[in-house]
Amino acid sequence: MRVPETEEEWRACYAVSARSFNLPLTEAKEQEFLEKVHRDRSLAAFVDGEVAAWAQVRPFGQFFGGRSVAMGGYSPVAAAPEHRGLGLATLVTVAHFPLMRERGEVISGLYPASTQLYRNAGFELGGAFTHREFQTRSLHHIQAPGGLRARRAKVEDLPAIKDCYRRFASTQPGWLDRPDVWWEKLLPVESFDEHHVYVVGAGGGAVRGYVRYLHVPREPWGYNVAVQELCAEEPEVVLALWRLVGSSSTQAEFVKAVAPPEHPLLLLLPDQEMKTPSEIRWMTRIVDAPAAIAARGYPPGVEVSVDIDLDDAHCEWNQGRWRLTVEDGRGVLERGGAGEVTMSVNALATLYTGYASATTLQQAGLLASASPETLPELTAAFAGPTPWCVDFY
Ligand SMILES: CC(C)(COP(=O)(O)OP(=O)(O)OC[C@H]1O[C@@H](n2cnc3c(N)ncnc32)[C@H](O)[C@@H]1OP(=O)(O)O)[C@@H](O)C(=O)NCCC(=O)NCCS
Repeated sequence: MRVPETEEEWRACYAVSARSFNLPLTEAKEQEFLEKVHRDRSLAAFVDGEVAAWAQVRPFGQFFGGRSVAMGGYSPVAAAPEHRGLGLATLVTVAHFPLMRERGEVISGLYPASTQLYRNAGFELGGAFTHREFQTRSLHHIQAPGGLRARRAKVEDLPAIKDCYRRFASTQPGWLDRPDVWWEKLLPVESFDEHHVYVVGAGGGAVRGYVRYLHVPREPWGYNVAVQELCAEEPEVVLALWRLVGSSSTQAEFVKAVAPPEHPLLLLLPDQEMKTPSEIRWMTRIVDAPAAIAARGYPPGVEVSVDIDLDDAHCEWNQGRWRLTVEDGRGVLERGGAGEVTMSVNALATLYTGYASATTLQQAGLLASASPETLPELTAAFAGPTPWCVDFY
């Protein structure tokens, strides 16, 4: 297990990815990969000197409790077909944990093609990536936002769009704190004008809200609108942006939006006709338990003190007894305590994101408590709406 060294080894990583994800094995795509791969954040497993499996960890933050937590996001993890079933994907995944810890990436995330693979490595369900589909014309029912209109975004708006994204993302548990390298992948400056981005501007070049979407062709004519994100905090801006999306209803029968499990539009539309055409849950791993607990925010007014006995088969630095204290919106995990609540690092991950409550975990047999009254306390510390995310990485 090591970082690939030669160009040939990096090309072999691309070939393993291409064969695993059905990517084109063309020179142009390989060149793009060679330019963009995070060479200092990749590890490969070799069999007879050949790359057999590899994994890259992308640099992200992720918002929990209003604070950005440094997160390493696996993408991709791939094993060559002829070397599968030998534990190599597990090996390359687990080998990144100490490296992430050294870099201060206190949690990790991924979109699992196999839940069990990553569960065995200490990840657990953390939040949802869901598409909701509804009739475009249903948006005509939402109230007109008194004269406020969106305009087409220009590339010069990009810094203000990023600011707006970050403000909104901090209010949504599970959203990424996107580094520039990720923005460049989503909205490359050179092709900005080819994207459908509309903003509601404010004075001084600021952006109050924006929507980013795609046109997806459909048969025999027209297209559907795929909303990638709609970021706005003020109700009239939210309405102006959804009304703009609705204005495509003569060509686009449906809107398919990356959406939270419970969409706020349900509170505004006259009917509940929303389908869920696709849904996957991303997974989270606690890489450095005390640093992760310190990094996220907590609901104000919650005061908790619970002794935890944590089981972590891959990161011995997390293993053992801890006292969790939450107070004044801050969390501390210190060594010690009586180990009143026992759980695996997997259960801690799903509790940490707010995906599952302590009571749910206890009822699923994934957490045990000597005194049941601690369960509502633990739940309250991490409580919030179901985490979700608009970025598939
Ligand atoms: C998924 C993939 C990375 C697994 O690689 P691998 O080296 O064979 O994985 P491992 O041997 O470490 O498997 C560990 C566990 O993963 C799970 N797993 C592996 N392949 C699986 C499959 N095809 N279906 C369901 N679960 C699978 C099993 O639980 C397995 O444990 P087990 O062998 O005790 O049953 C590989 O099949 C691959 O590259 N697939 C295509 C690309 C892809 O889907 N990548 C993952 C993106 S998140």
